[in-house]
Amino acid sequence: MNNMQVFDPNNAEGIHEMLSDSGYSDKAIRYYMERPYMGNIEHPDQVSELTGHCGDTMKIFFKLDETDHIQDVRYQVLGCPGAIAAAMAAVDLVKGKTLDEAKKLTDRDVFRLLEDLPDQKQHCIRLAVKTLQKAIEEYIGNNGHKNTVQEDTSAIM
Ligand code: FES
Repeated sequence: MNNMQVFDPNNAEGIHEMLSDSGYSDKAIRYYMERPYMGNIEHPDQVSELTGHCGDTMKIFFKLDETDHIQDVRYQVLGCPGAIAAAMAAVDLVKGKTLDEAKKLTDRDVFRLLEDLPDQKQHCIRLAVKTLQKAIEEYIGNNGHKNTVQEDTSAIM
């Protein structure tokens, strides 16, 4: 990783100022500094990893509930502040959704939620979205596409 950021909580103000001067919105900076969905999930239903052209890597974990809605999502990110902010925002947009709904997530959706990122950081959003889409495709490939509506079996019982 050529541009991994080291987070120093003692210099939060300095980091905020530096990112703000570079073109990050306050919201994007908050996602970067608070990292609400960074980490992993025990016994996930899917784990997938993707490395972008820049060399940054994301690993995603997700767990579905009994009706196949996304119950929990976590990212591990070896990458820049833009990558971290985009991954965290992506989670807020797909939590509680079905896989079909989550698959439709676009870069624009994430950008809208982040409000602003420097132009040269737009591809970080792409990496977060593509990592999620890869995980969903791999999950469906391995498990088939389950119907999210419970079948009514009462008629045959
Ligand atoms: Fe690679 Fe941001 S520079 S994801």
